[in-house]
Amino acid sequence: WFLKAFSQELVIPNWKTFVTDMKYHFQQVEPLQDGENASYIPILKSADSEKWALSICSIDGQRVSLGHDQAYLFPHTLQSVSKPVTYAMALHREGEAFMEEWIDVEPAGRPFNTQDLDPETQRPFNASINSGAIMAAGILASGFSPAANWKDIVDNVRKTWYELCGNDLDIGFSDITFESEKETAYNNFAIAYNLKGRKGLPRNVDLHTMLDVYLGCCSIEITTEALSVAAATLANGGICPITGKEVFPASVVRTVLSEIMMCGMYNQAGHFAVEVGLPAKSGVSGALMVIVPNVFGFATFSPRLNTKGNSVRGVAFCRRLVDSYRVHVF
Ligand code: DON
Repeated sequence: WFLKAFSQELVIPNWKTFVTDMKYHFQQVEPLQDGENASYIPILKSADSEKWALSICSIDGQRVSLGHDQAYLFPHTLQSVSKPVTYAMALHREGEAFMEEWIDVEPAGRPFNTQDLDPETQRPFNASINSGAIMAAGILASGFSPAANWKDIVDNVRKTWYELCGNDLDIGFSDITFESEKETAYNNFAIAYNLKGRKGLPRNVDLHTMLDVYLGCCSIEITTEALSVAAATLANGGICPITGKEVFPASVVRTVLSEIMMCGMYNQAGHFAVEVGLPAKSGVSGALMVIVPNVFGFATFSPRLNTKGNSVRGVAFCRRLVDSYRVHVF
């Protein structure tokens, strides 16, 4: 990127000022104590609520990370931040028509764990709520050979995350989270049975494999620093700014970003679209991935969540960013 820097072609030419501003907003958000850690998964409940991290990566590959004790290098699970990538992988493989048949792209206006399906078509409303993400995991699994087990499929997803993050070696897997989720996933089991009972499953994929792939994707571990590169890859139309590799075609990225713009923040998605106006995806671990199309991507991590399941500090940071920089897409 330094060639671009010398010819003043960088998408954020005044990087130093930008970083100073980001530091200021990062510090202003830190005192917020509202919200609670997710409590329905023991390992998330016991997470350190004080952790606060921010990483930014521009589409030119300029990067900055902030947080006490290098909180941006702390591995945490993706949880629902995994959903757009699982969806993108399934979409890339199967195409729009097949995806449409099984998952709609309409805002749900319901909590992320709702059992409701579209009453007319029996499809999940979108791929960002659990029902749609479980279905996307099923679609992905249905494209693998029947001999592939859930771990093979999740390893494949992990490999895609690795590429999205610029071959970052920190992409891990939390066995403890996976086991702990499995023990408590009664609602997700109910969703899976409901999906099978209503419209059936794509290619009659095994219900347990589908659920294990979904929970496995949620249990992939990442750092805030790595997640910001994945966000930048999506901001850059699917080409990783660090490696230059095309991870997804631009057409897949366009659909996925439109989908998370409308649905990624669950039943706060409408307010988030009005106030922040950027495609974003949150997870119950406290992770948040935000895309500023064609400019930069960023990730935040702070475990305390609001009542909609979104990180309080993460959302507050986004609001401040939009107040000081004109990045709202409208
Ligand atoms: O399905 C679940 O319960 C979780 N593993 C993921 C949900 C999630 O992250 C929702 N996000 N806010």
